[in-house]
Amino acid sequence: MVMGVVLAALAVLPLLAAAQSCYGGNTIAGSNNVMPNGKYQIASEGIRANFIPYGASLSNLFITDVHGVERDIVLGFDNATYYTESKMHPHLCGVPGRYANRIKNGTFTIDGETFHTNLNDNGGLDTLHGGADGWDYRNWTVVAHTTDSITFNIVDPDGKEGFPGQVIAYVTYTVQPYQWHLKMTALSTTKKTPILLDGFQNPSTPLALNYSLYLPYAGTRIAIDNIEIPTGDILANKQYSVNDFWSAPKQLGANITSPSLLGNCGYNCTGYDTCYIQNRDAYGPYNWRQAPVATLASPFSGTFAIKETQGFFNDSSRPRVAEKYGCVVMEVEDWIDGINNPEWGRDKKQIFGPGDDPYVLEATYNFSLNHTLAATFDHTATS
Ligand SMILES: *[C@@H]1O[C@H](CO)[C@@H](O)[C@H](O)[C@H]1NC(C)=O
Ligand SMILES: *[C@@H]1O[C@H](CO)[C@@H](O)[C@H](O)[C@H]1NC(C)=O
Ligand SMILES: *[C@@H]1O[C@H](CO)[C@@H](O)[C@H](O)[C@H]1NC(C)=O
Ligand SMILES: *[C@@H]1O[C@H](CO)[C@@H](O)[C@H](O)[C@H]1NC(C)=O
Ligand SMILES: *[C@@H]1O[C@H](CO)[C@@H](O)[C@H](O)[C@H]1NC(C)=O
Ligand SMILES: *[C@@H]1O[C@H](CO)[C@@H](O)[C@H](O)[C@H]1NC(C)=O
Ligand SMILES: *[C@@H]1O[C@H](CO)[C@@H](O)[C@H](O)[C@H]1NC(C)=O
Ligand SMILES: *[C@@H]1O[C@H](CO)[C@@H](O)[C@H](O)[C@H]1NC(C)=O
Ligand SMILES: *[C@@H]1O[C@H](CO)[C@@H](O)[C@H](O)[C@H]1NC(C)=O
Repeated sequence: MVMGVVLAALAVLPLLAAAQSCYGGNTIAGSNNVMPNGKYQIASEGIRANFIPYGASLSNLFITDVHGVERDIVLGFDNATYYTESKMHPHLCGVPGRYANRIKNGTFTIDGETFHTNLNDNGGLDTLHGGADGWDYRNWTVVAHTTDSITFNIVDPDGKEGFPGQVIAYVTYTVQPYQWHLKMTALSTTKKTPILLDGFQNPSTPLALNYSLYLPYAGTRIAIDNIEIPTGDILANKQYSVNDFWSAPKQLGANITSPSLLGNCGYNCTGYDTCYIQNRDAYGPYNWRQAPVATLASPFSGTFAIKETQGFFNDSSRPRVAEKYGCVVMEVEDWIDGINNPEWGRDKKQIFGPGDDPYVLEATYNFSLNHTLAATFDHTATS
């Protein structure tokens, strides 16, 4: 592999005017394990998660704090039906696909054949998250559901949104005590096609600027233009620059007044919507399950610190996170628009055909409680 890296990206997008928190305290399962609000639940010690078929989305993630009180840390809506109805569609904890993030001009070439995909972003300049009817706009099928695990399936037809070939995908979410795990697999059954999925997680709070983020392997990032399309360049995250989250943990808002933060997330945008590359290979062999690539800690709600580890084909991964300074979005995925930047050497991770190994993406999120800061949390409104 050219770079042998793991990819991580963090984005703090100025997307939502109002952070809408999700709360769904309903725990009574009805027939088929569906709760009256249309959600599916799995649980383990200290953790309880709700899901909906729409986008195979995580709608609620309750973490029990040091006082035994559950806190719902992700954005979402109260019931399953509203996700389809809402015009806002801020990509809430779902699975974008079949190609997450942006494809420049919605155009790519495989084996000399050029394909054009649905141009649903930036007024028709590119494809975002698989097009206007991407995977997180569709209801997935629940194919397995136990007390601590749920599996969703989607069959994406040949030609949908302009992508070649049929893709069959599964996502399995599992909980263990204070731990959340996701695994996505996808098979291209008929033609070669690009596949890039991501998994994400948004802790919600009006205080995200005070979240501390640590990305110890994120020495570089993918350069983007005014509309956040990769330019092809890989940039160094110089120490003490606004994008330095590797030399030490840093609050997301620490550099909010720095002039160099303007334009960091596209034209006239101040903040982070950044694909940070995790160069773990540079430090020798590793097991992705052991060392976190990202640690997010909140001093206020701050009884929990979110550690995250994720793997992509065993050897790469990426977290990302999004919203208007009110929440953080962490997306786990391979290099954005790698399909149009062959010099990055991501083809084997992004183009799949019949007979190839399946696309696999795995991520683990560990949650830990910080007793030291529990008192501070008492003064914070629950989400
Ligand atoms: C569904 O959730 C939305 C947003 O949370 C809410 O506005 C709506 O009233 C809910 N509908 C029902 C039937 O509960
Ligand atoms: C998804 O399923 C919900 C019921 O849970 C339904 O209200 C909604 O219309 C469906 N959406 C789509 C896009 O099929
Ligand atoms: C950009 O996309 C348009 C619409 O799909 C297509 O006609 C055009 O050839 C593409 N341009 C390039 C340079 O790929
Ligand atoms: C960003 O914040 C850190 C921590 O406060 C500081 O050390 C660094 O100099 C700041 N960088 C810029 C460009 O403002
Ligand atoms: C929270 O972040 C702001 C800047 O974003 C900073 O001025 C303030 O000191 C931080 N508060 C704490 C308690 O760290
Ligand atoms: C840049 O953003 C600011 C604040 O959002 C806005 O007031 C201003 O009009 C924008 N300028 C341009 C040229 O878009
Ligand atoms: C996550 O938690 C599990 C179980 O407590 C532990 O074995 C693992 O080392 C933790 N991973 C990280 C990256 O902290
Ligand atoms: C991933 O790891 C498994 C088991 O360790 C191995 O069989 C497989 O070949 C690896 N896949 C890749 C793409 O390295
Ligand atoms: C809790 O937070 C405090 C203050 O940031 C820190 O000194 C301490 O090491 C943390 N404890 C744990 C267990 O993470």
